[in-house]
Amino acid sequence: MDRRLFLTYAGSTTAALVAASTGIGALTGNAMTANHLMNGQPSGQGKPLTAPFKPVSRTWENELVLPNGYKYNIIASYGDVINSKGEKFGDAADLTVYFPIDSLEGGNHSEEGLIWVNHEFPEPGNYMKMLGINEATFKKENLASYPELLKMEKEAVGGSVIHVKKENGEWKLVQNDAYNRRVDGTTPIELTGPARGSKAVNGATKVFGSLGNCSGGRTLWNTALSCEENTGYGSSYGWPNFDETHYGWVVEVDPFDPKKPVRKHTALGRFAHENAAMGLTEDGRVVVYMGDDKGDECFYKFISDKKFNPNNREANFDILENGTLYVANLGKQKWIALDYASNSALKSQFADQADVLTNARAAAKAVGGTKLDRPEDVEIHPHDGTVFLALTNNSGHGNFHGQIVRFAPANGDHASDSFTFEVFIAGGQQSGITCPDNLHFDSKGNLWVVEDYGATEDNIYAAYKNCGVFMIPTDGKSYGVPHQFASGPKGCEVTGPWLTPDERTLFLDVQHPDTWNPAPGYDFGRSCLVAVQGGSFSK
Ligand code: FEO
Ligand code: CA
Ligand code: CA
Ligand code: CA
Repeated sequence: MDRRLFLTYAGSTTAALVAASTGIGALTGNAMTANHLMNGQPSGQGKPLTAPFKPVSRTWENELVLPNGYKYNIIASYGDVINSKGEKFGDAADLTVYFPIDSLEGGNHSEEGLIWVNHEFPEPGNYMKMLGINEATFKKENLASYPELLKMEKEAVGGSVIHVKKENGEWKLVQNDAYNRRVDGTTPIELTGPARGSKAVNGATKVFGSLGNCSGGRTLWNTALSCEENTGYGSSYGWPNFDETHYGWVVEVDPFDPKKPVRKHTALGRFAHENAAMGLTEDGRVVVYMGDDKGDECFYKFISDKKFNPNNREANFDILENGTLYVANLGKQKWIALDYASNSALKSQFADQADVLTNARAAAKAVGGTKLDRPEDVEIHPHDGTVFLALTNNSGHGNFHGQIVRFAPANGDHASDSFTFEVFIAGGQQSGITCPDNLHFDSKGNLWVVEDYGATEDNIYAAYKNCGVFMIPTDGKSYGVPHQFASGPKGCEVTGPWLTPDERTLFLDVQHPDTWNPAPGYDFGRSCLVAVQGGSFSK
Protein backbone atom coordinates (compact mmCIF):
# COMPACT_ATOMS: atom_id res chain seq x y z
CA MET A 1 0.00 0.00 0.00
CA ASP A 2 3.08 2.22 -0.03
CA ARG A 3 2.09 4.38 -2.98
CA ARG A 4 -1.54 4.48 -2.18
CA LEU A 5 -2.96 7.41 -0.34
CA PHE A 6 -6.45 7.31 0.93
CA LEU A 7 -8.82 10.17 0.57
CA THR A 8 -11.27 10.97 3.29
CA TYR A 9 -13.68 13.79 3.34
CA ALA A 10 -13.59 15.97 6.42
CA GLY A 11 -16.91 17.48 5.51
CA SER A 12 -19.14 17.42 2.50
CA THR A 13 -17.19 20.18 0.78
CA THR A 14 -13.59 19.94 1.90
CA ALA A 15 -11.22 17.21 0.92
CA ALA A 16 -8.21 16.20 2.92
CA LEU A 17 -5.61 13.67 1.91
CA VAL A 18 -4.68 11.40 4.74
CA ALA A 19 -2.76 8.18 4.91
CA ALA A 20 -4.83 5.22 5.92
CA SER A 21 -4.04 1.71 6.94
CA THR A 22 -6.46 -0.40 5.00
CA GLY A 23 -6.27 -1.14 1.33
CA ILE A 24 -8.41 -1.89 -1.64
CA GLY A 25 -8.27 -5.58 -2.36
CA ALA A 26 -8.81 -7.01 -5.80
CA LEU A 27 -12.44 -7.78 -6.36
CA THR A 28 -13.37 -11.34 -6.95
CA GLY A 29 -16.85 -10.48 -8.13
CA ASN A 30 -18.33 -10.18 -11.55
CA ALA A 31 -16.07 -7.85 -13.50
CA MET A 32 -18.14 -7.85 -16.66
CA THR A 33 -18.07 -4.38 -18.12
CA ALA A 34 -19.33 -2.92 -21.35
CA ASN A 35 -16.88 -0.20 -22.30
CA HIS A 36 -13.95 -2.18 -23.40
CA LEU A 37 -13.50 -4.99 -25.78
CA MET A 38 -14.93 -8.41 -26.33
CA ASN A 39 -18.59 -7.46 -26.01
CA GLY A 40 -18.19 -6.79 -22.36
CA GLN A 41 -16.20 -9.88 -21.50
CA PRO A 42 -12.89 -9.28 -19.72
CA SER A 43 -10.39 -10.28 -22.35
CA GLY A 44 -7.37 -12.02 -20.99
CA GLN A 45 -5.66 -11.41 -17.72
CA GLY A 46 -1.94 -10.93 -17.35
CA LYS A 47 0.33 -8.76 -15.36
CA PRO A 48 0.62 -5.23 -16.57
CA LEU A 49 2.74 -3.55 -17.77
CA THR A 50 5.33 -1.59 -19.48
CA ALA A 51 4.55 0.83 -22.26
CA PRO A 52 5.04 -0.59 -25.75
CA PHE A 53 5.95 2.89 -26.99
CA LYS A 54 8.61 5.49 -26.25
CA PRO A 55 6.70 8.32 -24.55
CA VAL A 56 6.52 11.74 -26.19
CA SER A 57 7.24 14.97 -24.32
CA ARG A 58 5.11 17.97 -23.49
CA THR A 59 5.10 20.37 -26.44
CA TRP A 60 3.43 23.48 -27.88
CA GLU A 61 3.63 21.98 -31.37
CA ASN A 62 0.50 22.57 -33.44
CA GLU A 63 0.18 18.91 -34.42
CA LEU A 64 -1.09 15.61 -33.08
CA VAL A 65 2.30 14.36 -31.91
CA LEU A 66 2.69 10.58 -31.49
CA PRO A 67 5.53 8.25 -30.46
CA ASN A 68 7.97 7.08 -33.15
CA GLY A 69 6.40 4.46 -35.38
CA TYR A 70 2.79 5.56 -34.81
CA LYS A 71 0.74 7.59 -37.29
CA TYR A 72 -2.77 8.96 -37.50
CA ASN A 73 -5.28 9.51 -40.26
CA ILE A 74 -8.35 11.73 -40.05
CA ILE A 75 -11.60 9.80 -40.60
CA ALA A 76 -14.15 12.63 -40.44
CA SER A 77 -14.06 16.35 -39.67
CA TYR A 78 -16.70 18.98 -38.94
CA GLY A 79 -18.67 19.66 -42.13
CA ASP A 80 -17.83 16.40 -43.96
CA VAL A 81 -20.88 14.98 -45.76
CA ILE A 82 -21.68 11.52 -44.36
CA ASN A 83 -24.65 10.32 -46.44
CA SER A 84 -26.63 10.91 -49.64
CA LYS A 85 -29.12 13.12 -47.78
CA GLY A 86 -26.23 15.55 -47.38
CA GLU A 87 -26.10 15.28 -43.57
CA LYS A 88 -22.77 16.46 -42.18
CA PHE A 89 -20.42 15.30 -39.45
CA GLY A 90 -21.06 17.61 -36.49
CA ASP A 91 -18.77 19.83 -34.46
CA ALA A 92 -16.75 19.41 -31.24
CA ALA A 93 -16.18 15.65 -31.53
CA ASP A 94 -16.16 13.83 -28.21
CA LEU A 95 -16.72 10.19 -27.16
CA THR A 96 -15.95 7.51 -29.72
CA VAL A 97 -17.78 4.21 -29.27
CA TYR A 98 -16.59 1.57 -31.74
CA PHE A 99 -18.97 -1.29 -32.56
CA PRO A 100 -17.36 -4.13 -34.53
CA ILE A 101 -19.47 -4.60 -37.68
CA ASP A 102 -20.22 -8.16 -36.53
CA SER A 103 -21.07 -7.12 -32.93
CA LEU A 104 -24.61 -8.44 -33.10
CA GLU A 105 -23.29 -11.89 -33.96
CA GLY A 106 -20.84 -11.67 -31.06
CA GLY A 107 -17.90 -10.81 -33.31
CA ASN A 108 -14.88 -8.61 -32.68
CA HIS A 109 -14.09 -7.31 -36.16
CA SER A 110 -11.28 -4.83 -35.69
CA GLU A 111 -11.04 -3.43 -39.22
CA GLU A 112 -14.67 -2.56 -39.93
CA GLY A 113 -17.38 -1.21 -37.68
CA LEU A 114 -19.79 1.51 -36.75
CA ILE A 115 -18.72 4.45 -34.64
CA TRP A 116 -20.92 6.68 -32.56
CA VAL A 117 -19.33 10.12 -32.07
CA ASN A 118 -20.75 12.87 -29.82
CA HIS A 119 -20.80 16.48 -30.98
CA GLU A 120 -20.54 18.40 -27.75
CA PHE A 121 -21.27 22.03 -28.65
CA PRO A 122 -21.66 24.44 -31.55
CA GLU A 123 -19.01 27.04 -32.40
CA PRO A 124 -21.14 30.08 -33.38
CA GLY A 125 -18.09 32.30 -33.94
CA ASN A 126 -16.89 30.00 -36.73
CA TYR A 127 -20.34 29.78 -38.33
CA MET A 128 -20.68 33.58 -38.28
CA LYS A 129 -17.44 33.75 -40.26
CA MET A 130 -18.87 31.31 -42.80
CA LEU A 131 -22.19 33.20 -43.02
CA GLY A 132 -20.60 36.66 -43.12
CA ILE A 133 -22.29 37.74 -39.86
CA ASN A 134 -20.42 40.40 -37.91
CA GLU A 135 -19.62 38.75 -34.58
CA ALA A 136 -18.86 42.11 -32.93
CA THR A 137 -22.40 43.38 -33.37
CA PHE A 138 -24.22 40.04 -33.04
CA LYS A 139 -26.40 39.64 -29.95
CA LYS A 140 -27.45 36.10 -29.01
CA GLU A 141 -30.83 37.41 -27.81
CA ASN A 142 -31.54 38.05 -31.50
CA LEU A 143 -30.54 34.57 -32.70
CA ALA A 144 -34.09 33.91 -33.94
CA SER A 145 -33.56 36.61 -36.57
CA TYR A 146 -30.53 34.68 -37.90
CA PRO A 147 -32.27 31.45 -39.01
CA GLU A 148 -29.25 30.20 -40.97
CA LEU A 149 -27.01 30.52 -37.93
CA LEU A 150 -29.54 28.78 -35.67
CA LYS A 151 -29.85 26.00 -38.25
CA MET A 152 -26.06 25.54 -38.35
CA GLU A 153 -25.94 25.41 -34.55
CA LYS A 154 -28.70 22.78 -34.41
CA GLU A 155 -26.99 20.70 -37.09
CA ALA A 156 -23.62 20.90 -35.32
CA VAL A 157 -24.70 19.19 -32.09
CA GLY A 158 -25.93 15.72 -31.02
CA GLY A 159 -24.00 12.83 -32.51
CA SER A 160 -23.15 10.86 -35.65
CA VAL A 161 -23.32 7.19 -36.55
CA ILE A 162 -20.72 6.43 -39.21
CA HIS A 163 -19.63 3.24 -40.94
CA VAL A 164 -15.84 2.96 -40.90
CA LYS A 165 -13.44 0.53 -42.50
CA LYS A 166 -9.70 0.00 -42.71
CA GLU A 167 -8.51 0.02 -46.34
CA ASN A 168 -4.91 0.06 -47.54
CA GLY A 169 -3.77 0.68 -43.99
CA GLU A 170 -5.98 3.71 -43.32
CA TRP A 171 -9.38 4.06 -41.70
CA LYS A 172 -12.02 5.54 -44.01
CA LEU A 173 -15.61 6.68 -43.63
CA VAL A 174 -17.78 4.40 -45.80
CA GLN A 175 -20.63 6.22 -47.53
CA ASN A 176 -23.34 3.80 -46.46
CA ASP A 177 -26.87 5.11 -46.11
CA ALA A 178 -28.00 2.01 -44.26
CA TYR A 179 -26.00 3.28 -41.27
CA ASN A 180 -24.65 6.80 -41.62
CA ARG A 181 -26.94 9.30 -39.95
CA ARG A 182 -27.19 12.18 -37.57
CA VAL A 183 -28.91 12.82 -34.31
CA ASP A 184 -28.91 16.60 -33.96
CA GLY A 185 -30.59 19.53 -32.24
CA THR A 186 -33.90 18.79 -33.99
CA THR A 187 -34.24 14.98 -33.80
CA PRO A 188 -37.49 13.77 -32.17
CA ILE A 189 -36.53 11.80 -29.05
CA GLU A 190 -38.76 9.75 -26.74
CA LEU A 191 -38.57 10.27 -23.00
CA THR A 192 -38.77 7.04 -20.99
CA GLY A 193 -39.05 6.28 -17.29
CA PRO A 194 -40.66 8.00 -14.32
CA ALA A 195 -40.39 11.59 -15.61
CA ARG A 196 -41.95 10.86 -19.02
CA GLY A 197 -45.09 12.99 -19.40
CA SER A 198 -44.69 14.38 -15.87
CA LYS A 199 -45.24 17.89 -14.65
CA ALA A 200 -41.49 18.10 -13.92
CA VAL A 201 -40.78 18.05 -17.69
CA ASN A 202 -43.85 20.14 -18.52
CA GLY A 203 -45.79 17.11 -19.69
CA ALA A 204 -43.35 16.09 -22.45
CA THR A 205 -43.31 12.51 -23.73
CA LYS A 206 -41.25 13.47 -26.78
CA VAL A 207 -38.61 16.20 -26.98
CA PHE A 208 -36.60 17.66 -29.84
CA GLY A 209 -32.87 17.35 -30.11
CA SER A 210 -29.92 16.17 -28.06
CA LEU A 211 -27.39 18.72 -26.80
CA GLY A 212 -24.18 18.99 -24.83
CA ASN A 213 -23.23 15.42 -25.71
CA CYS A 214 -20.00 14.99 -23.83
CA SER A 215 -18.89 11.44 -23.12
CA GLY A 216 -20.98 8.30 -22.65
CA GLY A 217 -20.44 4.61 -23.19
CA ARG A 218 -21.48 1.34 -24.69
CA THR A 219 -24.20 -0.93 -23.36
CA LEU A 220 -23.83 -4.68 -22.97
CA TRP A 221 -26.36 -5.02 -25.82
CA ASN A 222 -24.36 -2.87 -28.26
CA THR A 223 -26.13 0.45 -28.20
CA ALA A 224 -24.48 3.81 -27.51
CA LEU A 225 -25.15 5.92 -24.43
CA SER A 226 -24.61 9.61 -25.10
CA CYS A 227 -24.53 11.97 -22.14
CA GLU A 228 -26.00 15.47 -22.17
CA GLU A 229 -23.69 17.71 -20.16
CA ASN A 230 -23.85 21.51 -20.50
CA THR A 231 -27.34 22.06 -21.86
CA GLY A 232 -28.20 25.67 -21.01
CA TYR A 233 -28.49 26.54 -24.70
CA GLY A 234 -31.15 29.19 -24.02
CA SER A 235 -28.77 31.25 -21.89
CA SER A 236 -25.47 30.20 -23.54
CA TYR A 237 -26.39 30.51 -27.20
CA GLY A 238 -29.78 32.24 -27.21
CA TRP A 239 -31.79 29.30 -28.56
CA PRO A 240 -35.43 30.47 -28.57
CA ASN A 241 -38.27 28.63 -26.76
CA PHE A 242 -35.81 26.54 -24.84
CA ASP A 243 -37.05 24.11 -22.14
CA GLU A 244 -34.10 23.09 -19.96
CA THR A 245 -35.98 20.13 -18.46
CA HIS A 246 -35.83 18.39 -21.86
CA TYR A 247 -32.02 18.19 -21.75
CA GLY A 248 -29.42 16.88 -19.30
CA TRP A 249 -30.40 13.20 -19.70
CA VAL A 250 -28.66 10.02 -20.84
CA VAL A 251 -29.58 9.23 -24.46
CA GLU A 252 -29.61 5.70 -25.94
CA VAL A 253 -29.06 5.16 -29.67
CA ASP A 254 -29.01 1.89 -31.59
CA PRO A 255 -26.26 2.39 -34.19
CA PHE A 256 -27.39 -0.71 -36.11
CA ASP A 257 -31.02 0.28 -36.59
CA PRO A 258 -31.93 3.81 -37.75
CA LYS A 259 -35.61 2.95 -37.24
CA LYS A 260 -35.26 2.37 -33.49
CA PRO A 261 -36.41 5.50 -31.69
CA VAL A 262 -33.69 7.51 -29.95
CA ARG A 263 -34.57 7.68 -26.24
CA LYS A 264 -33.70 9.76 -23.19
CA HIS A 265 -33.87 7.67 -20.01
CA THR A 266 -35.18 9.79 -17.15
CA ALA A 267 -34.58 7.00 -14.60
CA LEU A 268 -30.85 7.89 -14.79
CA GLY A 269 -31.52 11.43 -13.58
CA ARG A 270 -30.97 14.87 -15.02
CA PHE A 271 -27.68 16.73 -14.41
CA ALA A 272 -24.52 17.64 -16.38
CA HIS A 273 -23.96 14.04 -17.44
CA GLU A 274 -20.37 13.35 -18.43
CA ASN A 275 -20.51 9.65 -19.09
CA ALA A 276 -22.13 6.29 -18.48
CA ALA A 277 -20.02 3.24 -17.62
CA MET A 278 -21.99 0.00 -17.57
CA GLY A 279 -21.33 -3.22 -15.68
CA LEU A 280 -23.30 -6.02 -14.01
CA THR A 281 -24.23 -6.72 -10.42
CA GLU A 282 -23.66 -10.17 -8.94
CA ASP A 283 -27.30 -11.07 -9.61
CA GLY A 284 -27.16 -9.92 -13.23
CA ARG A 285 -28.78 -6.51 -13.11
CA VAL A 286 -27.18 -3.57 -14.87
CA VAL A 287 -25.17 -0.87 -13.10
CA VAL A 288 -24.37 2.47 -14.76
CA TYR A 289 -21.81 4.76 -13.10
CA MET A 290 -22.13 8.47 -13.94
CA GLY A 291 -20.30 11.71 -13.15
CA ASP A 292 -21.86 15.19 -12.98
CA ASP A 293 -19.25 17.45 -14.60
CA LYS A 294 -19.29 20.55 -12.48
CA GLY A 295 -17.31 21.68 -9.45
CA ASP A 296 -19.06 20.66 -6.20
CA GLU A 297 -21.32 18.16 -7.90
CA CYS A 298 -21.75 14.44 -7.24
CA PHE A 299 -21.02 10.89 -8.36
CA TYR A 300 -24.00 8.63 -9.18
CA LYS A 301 -24.89 5.06 -10.02
CA PHE A 302 -28.06 3.56 -11.45
CA ILE A 303 -29.10 -0.05 -10.83
CA SER A 304 -31.77 -1.51 -13.08
CA ASP A 305 -34.76 -3.45 -11.81
CA LYS A 306 -34.49 -5.92 -14.65
CA LYS A 307 -31.67 -8.41 -15.31
CA PHE A 308 -29.49 -8.35 -18.41
CA ASN A 309 -30.29 -11.06 -20.93
CA PRO A 310 -27.11 -12.04 -22.82
CA ASN A 311 -29.09 -14.23 -25.23
CA ASN A 312 -31.73 -11.80 -26.43
CA ARG A 313 -30.68 -8.30 -27.46
CA GLU A 314 -34.21 -6.98 -27.82
CA ALA A 315 -35.11 -8.07 -24.30
CA ASN A 316 -32.60 -5.54 -22.96
CA PHE A 317 -33.96 -2.45 -24.65
CA ASP A 318 -36.14 -1.40 -21.71
CA ILE A 319 -33.56 -2.13 -18.99
CA LEU A 320 -32.66 1.53 -18.50
CA GLU A 321 -36.28 2.59 -18.16
CA ASN A 322 -36.74 1.38 -14.56
CA GLY A 323 -34.41 1.17 -11.60
CA THR A 324 -32.89 3.10 -8.72
CA LEU A 325 -30.60 6.12 -8.91
CA TYR A 326 -28.05 6.48 -6.09
CA VAL A 327 -25.65 9.25 -5.10
CA ALA A 328 -22.30 8.65 -3.37
CA ASN A 329 -21.66 9.87 0.17
CA LEU A 330 -17.89 9.49 0.52
CA GLY A 331 -17.74 10.33 4.22
CA LYS A 332 -20.09 7.45 5.01
CA GLN A 333 -18.75 5.33 2.12
CA LYS A 334 -22.36 4.67 1.14
CA TRP A 335 -24.61 4.89 -1.87
CA ILE A 336 -27.85 6.70 -1.01
CA ALA A 337 -30.98 5.98 -3.05
CA LEU A 338 -32.74 8.96 -4.59
CA ASP A 339 -36.02 7.25 -3.92
CA TYR A 340 -38.96 9.52 -3.17
CA ALA A 341 -41.16 6.80 -1.68
CA SER A 342 -38.68 5.72 0.98
CA ASN A 343 -36.84 8.93 1.82
CA SER A 344 -38.49 11.55 4.02
CA ALA A 345 -35.84 14.17 3.15
CA LEU A 346 -37.04 13.96 -0.47
CA LYS A 347 -40.74 13.91 0.43
CA SER A 348 -40.48 17.26 2.15
CA GLN A 349 -38.78 18.99 -0.80
CA PHE A 350 -40.06 17.34 -3.97
CA ALA A 351 -43.46 16.61 -5.48
CA ASP A 352 -42.80 13.08 -6.70
CA GLN A 353 -40.12 10.77 -8.16
CA ALA A 354 -40.28 12.58 -11.52
CA ASP A 355 -39.43 15.83 -9.73
CA VAL A 356 -36.54 14.12 -7.89
CA LEU A 357 -35.05 12.76 -11.12
CA THR A 358 -35.53 15.97 -13.10
CA ASN A 359 -33.81 17.94 -10.33
CA ALA A 360 -31.34 15.23 -9.35
CA ARG A 361 -28.66 17.70 -8.22
CA ALA A 362 -30.93 19.25 -5.59
CA ALA A 363 -32.14 15.79 -4.56
CA ALA A 364 -28.55 14.56 -4.22
CA LYS A 365 -27.72 17.44 -1.89
CA ALA A 366 -30.90 16.85 0.12
CA VAL A 367 -29.81 13.29 0.95
CA GLY A 368 -26.14 14.05 1.68
CA GLY A 369 -24.39 13.39 -1.65
CA THR A 370 -20.74 14.45 -1.40
CA LYS A 371 -19.71 17.45 -3.48
CA LEU A 372 -16.69 16.53 -5.57
CA ASP A 373 -14.17 18.27 -7.80
CA ARG A 374 -15.83 17.94 -11.25
CA PRO A 375 -16.62 14.23 -11.60
CA GLU A 376 -16.02 13.47 -15.27
CA ASP A 377 -15.38 10.09 -16.85
CA VAL A 378 -15.83 6.81 -14.99
CA GLU A 379 -14.62 3.38 -16.10
CA ILE A 380 -14.82 -0.07 -14.55
CA HIS A 381 -11.50 -1.94 -14.37
CA PRO A 382 -11.72 -4.95 -16.70
CA HIS A 383 -10.02 -7.37 -14.30
CA ASP A 384 -10.89 -6.42 -10.75
CA GLY A 385 -14.13 -4.47 -11.15
CA THR A 386 -12.90 -1.40 -9.25
CA VAL A 387 -14.37 1.86 -10.47
CA PHE A 388 -12.12 4.71 -11.61
CA LEU A 389 -13.50 8.26 -11.48
CA ALA A 390 -11.73 11.29 -12.95
CA LEU A 391 -12.10 14.44 -10.85
CA THR A 392 -10.90 17.03 -13.34
CA ASN A 393 -10.31 20.01 -11.05
CA ASN A 394 -12.05 22.56 -8.86
CA SER A 395 -10.26 25.87 -9.11
CA GLY A 396 -12.64 27.44 -6.59
CA HIS A 397 -11.14 25.13 -3.96
CA GLY A 398 -7.57 25.51 -5.17
CA ASN A 399 -7.61 22.07 -6.80
CA PHE A 400 -6.24 23.00 -10.21
CA HIS A 401 -4.88 19.62 -11.27
CA GLY A 402 -7.51 17.11 -10.18
CA GLN A 403 -7.09 13.44 -9.40
CA ILE A 404 -8.34 9.98 -10.32
CA VAL A 405 -10.09 8.12 -7.52
CA ARG A 406 -10.53 4.33 -7.42
CA PHE A 407 -13.63 2.92 -5.72
CA ALA A 408 -14.05 -0.69 -4.59
CA PRO A 409 -17.66 -1.83 -4.12
CA ALA A 410 -18.12 -3.90 -0.95
CA ASN A 411 -17.93 -7.67 -1.59
CA GLY A 412 -16.99 -6.94 -5.18
CA ASP A 413 -20.65 -6.40 -6.01
CA HIS A 414 -21.76 -3.27 -7.86
CA ALA A 415 -25.15 -3.68 -6.19
CA SER A 416 -23.62 -3.16 -2.76
CA ASP A 417 -24.60 0.04 -0.99
CA SER A 418 -21.14 0.54 0.50
CA PHE A 419 -17.64 1.03 -0.87
CA THR A 420 -14.08 2.01 -0.02
CA PHE A 421 -11.94 4.34 -2.10
CA GLU A 422 -8.46 5.76 -2.57
CA VAL A 423 -6.67 8.24 -4.78
CA PHE A 424 -5.17 6.35 -7.71
CA ILE A 425 -3.20 9.32 -9.03
CA ALA A 426 -3.13 13.02 -8.18
CA GLY A 427 -2.59 15.60 -10.91
CA GLY A 428 0.33 18.00 -10.64
CA GLN A 429 4.09 18.15 -11.14
CA GLN A 430 4.79 14.96 -9.19
CA SER A 431 2.74 12.72 -11.48
CA GLY A 432 3.12 14.96 -14.53
CA ILE A 433 -0.52 14.86 -15.64
CA THR A 434 -3.19 17.48 -15.01
CA CYS A 435 -6.98 17.77 -15.29
CA PRO A 436 -7.87 14.15 -16.14
CA ASP A 437 -11.06 13.87 -18.18
CA ASN A 438 -11.89 10.85 -20.40
CA LEU A 439 -10.71 7.40 -19.31
CA HIS A 440 -10.51 4.12 -21.20
CA PHE A 441 -9.08 0.73 -20.23
CA ASP A 442 -7.11 -1.59 -22.47
CA SER A 443 -7.33 -5.36 -22.08
CA LYS A 444 -4.31 -5.51 -19.76
CA GLY A 445 -5.88 -3.05 -17.36
CA ASN A 446 -3.82 -0.01 -18.35
CA LEU A 447 -5.81 3.17 -17.91
CA TRP A 448 -5.76 5.59 -20.86
CA VAL A 449 -6.36 9.16 -19.76
CA VAL A 450 -6.88 12.39 -21.70
CA GLU A 451 -6.55 15.86 -20.24
CA ASP A 452 -8.83 18.92 -20.29
CA TYR A 453 -7.32 22.34 -19.58
CA GLY A 454 -6.35 25.46 -21.47
CA ALA A 455 -2.66 26.30 -21.14
CA THR A 456 -1.16 29.63 -22.13
CA GLU A 457 2.50 30.51 -21.76
CA ASP A 458 1.76 32.43 -18.56
CA ASN A 459 -1.10 30.68 -16.77
CA ILE A 460 -1.07 27.92 -14.16
CA TYR A 461 -1.00 25.24 -16.87
CA ALA A 462 1.98 26.73 -18.76
CA ALA A 463 4.35 23.88 -17.84
CA TYR A 464 1.92 21.29 -19.22
CA LYS A 465 1.68 22.93 -22.67
CA ASN A 466 -0.84 21.28 -25.03
CA CYS A 467 -3.36 18.71 -23.72
CA GLY A 468 -2.09 15.14 -23.87
CA VAL A 469 -3.02 11.46 -23.88
CA PHE A 470 -1.46 9.16 -21.27
CA MET A 471 -1.32 5.46 -20.51
CA ILE A 472 -1.12 4.58 -16.81
CA PRO A 473 -0.54 1.02 -15.58
CA THR A 474 -2.86 0.04 -12.73
CA ASP A 475 -0.69 -2.81 -11.52
CA GLY A 476 2.90 -4.04 -11.65
CA LYS A 477 6.16 -2.13 -11.43
CA SER A 478 4.89 0.97 -13.18
CA TYR A 479 1.72 1.23 -11.10
CA GLY A 480 0.39 4.78 -11.32
CA VAL A 481 3.15 6.07 -13.61
CA PRO A 482 1.81 8.08 -16.59
CA HIS A 483 3.41 7.45 -19.98
CA GLN A 484 2.58 10.19 -22.48
CA PHE A 485 1.30 8.71 -25.74
CA ALA A 486 0.20 11.86 -27.58
CA SER A 487 0.18 15.64 -27.50
CA GLY A 488 -2.71 17.44 -29.19
CA PRO A 489 -2.59 20.40 -31.58
CA LYS A 490 -2.73 23.90 -30.05
CA GLY A 491 -5.90 24.92 -28.27
CA CYS A 492 -7.49 21.47 -28.51
CA GLU A 493 -8.70 18.93 -26.06
CA VAL A 494 -8.07 15.34 -27.13
CA THR A 495 -11.21 13.38 -26.28
CA GLY A 496 -12.87 10.00 -26.77
CA PRO A 497 -10.06 7.39 -26.57
CA TRP A 498 -11.37 3.97 -27.68
CA LEU A 499 -9.41 0.88 -28.77
CA THR A 500 -10.49 -1.69 -31.33
CA PRO A 501 -10.80 -5.22 -29.86
CA ASP A 502 -7.45 -6.25 -31.42
CA GLU A 503 -5.87 -3.14 -29.87
CA ARG A 504 -4.16 -2.26 -33.16
CA THR A 505 -6.12 1.01 -33.55
CA LEU A 506 -6.77 3.76 -31.04
CA PHE A 507 -9.56 6.17 -32.00
CA LEU A 508 -9.28 9.71 -30.66
CA ASP A 509 -11.17 12.95 -31.23
CA VAL A 510 -9.35 16.24 -31.63
CA GLN A 511 -11.82 18.77 -30.25
CA HIS A 512 -11.75 22.53 -30.95
CA PRO A 513 -8.15 22.91 -32.25
CA ASP A 514 -7.25 26.59 -32.80
CA THR A 515 -6.07 26.39 -36.39
CA TRP A 516 -5.15 22.76 -37.12
CA ASN A 517 -7.18 20.87 -39.78
CA PRO A 518 -8.84 23.76 -41.68
CA ALA A 519 -10.37 23.19 -45.14
CA PRO A 520 -11.58 25.27 -48.07
CA GLY A 521 -14.64 27.17 -46.78
CA TYR A 522 -13.73 26.29 -43.20
CA ASP A 523 -11.12 28.85 -42.26
CA PHE A 524 -10.61 27.59 -38.71
CA GLY A 525 -9.38 24.51 -36.86
CA ARG A 526 -11.91 21.72 -37.33
CA SER A 527 -12.78 19.11 -34.73
CA CYS A 528 -12.33 15.60 -36.07
CA LEU A 529 -12.16 11.87 -35.44
CA VAL A 530 -8.77 10.22 -36.01
CA ALA A 531 -7.48 6.66 -36.08
CA VAL A 532 -4.01 6.03 -34.63
CA GLN A 533 -2.01 2.97 -35.65
CA GLY A 534 1.55 1.78 -35.92
CA GLY A 535 2.26 -0.53 -33.09
CA SER A 536 0.84 -2.17 -30.07
CA PHE A 537 -1.04 -0.19 -27.45
CA SER A 538 -0.67 -2.61 -24.58
CA LYS A 539 1.74 -5.28 -23.53
FE1 FEO B 1 -17.66 18.04 -21.68
FE2 FEO B 1 -17.15 17.11 -19.17
O1 FEO B 1 -16.35 17.72 -20.54
CA1 CA C 1 -15.41 15.39 -21.11
CA1 CA D 1 -14.53 6.63 -21.10
CA1 CA E 1 -13.97 18.16 -20.58
